[in-house]
Amino acid sequence: MAVSSRLRHVIESQQFSRSLLEELFARAEEIKREPHRFMGRLAGQVMAALFYEPSTRTRLSFEAAMLRLGGQTMGTDNAREFSSAAKGETLEDTIRIVSGYADVIVLRHREEGAAKRAAAVSDVPIINAGDGPGQHPTQALLDLFTIRAELAKIDGVRVAMVGDLANGRTVRSLAYLLSKFKDIKLWFVAPPQVSMRDDLKAHLDEHHVPYIETQDLDSVLPEVDVVYMTRIQKERFTDPAAYDAVKGIYRIDKNAMARMRKYAVLMHPLPRVDEISPEVDDDPRSAYFRQARNGLHIRMALLDKLLS
Ligand code: CP
Repeated sequence: MAVSSRLRHVIESQQFSRSLLEELFARAEEIKREPHRFMGRLAGQVMAALFYEPSTRTRLSFEAAMLRLGGQTMGTDNAREFSSAAKGETLEDTIRIVSGYADVIVLRHREEGAAKRAAAVSDVPIINAGDGPGQHPTQALLDLFTIRAELAKIDGVRVAMVGDLANGRTVRSLAYLLSKFKDIKLWFVAPPQVSMRDDLKAHLDEHHVPYIETQDLDSVLPEVDVVYMTRIQKERFTDPAAYDAVKGIYRIDKNAMARMRKYAVLMHPLPRVDEISPEVDDDPRSAYFRQARNGLHIRMALLDKLLS
């Protein structure tokens, strides 16, 4: 089983060096430009997708990526109910078994740290496709790839992360990646109930990345190059009243778009609920559907790097 010596498991954004990111982005661009050159690259290899939480984009883009590279896929998209987890099997035992059947395992789990636990017992690479409120590193790869494509740079970007920052694994993973670049400035726009967690802020302090915490989205919109909206994650709240207190708190509509810079980019990992009005979908600055499409090419580049 061929595995890159530099990248075995993909668990968290901190693993990626700037040079590895540039290598993956260059490969993703190549794949996007000349997809026929990569057909059959992973022939004979099998990817298992174990999803214990719902997914549309991550699951299907990983499957499409593997199939387009000539590999095959198998898996379960409601593993909590339809795998032997329902009979009480531990995650570790499931991974030990599946790593005997597949060449790579893409894992989404409801518990933070699940991907790391899986990697500790797996014979094949584990790719973290989201571990509860922990991280979603491949989403961050496609997000950064999108920023680079839309703005033709990463160094120097001003990024507002908006919404459920406490539970948002995508914003955490993206902030970790951005901290590897120069002259980055971040705004964390959230109500106190779902503000950015201290561990990530400590990481930014350590890496001298300035950030501002605020609840006032309107004042931030004219200041930034990227507005990264996120959904308030209802499924992470144990108290419905706590969710009701913050749901629908931020919304980008035509009036909000008018406050943004002319060349700024509006992003969202999706799915959206009501954070972005469909009335702005046709605005050229709305990049979220292009962003989701980039997931295919980045995941093809990542699978190629891990397995070829
Ligand atoms: N962005 C993202 O992770 O979407 P899915 O939940 O649909 O995979």
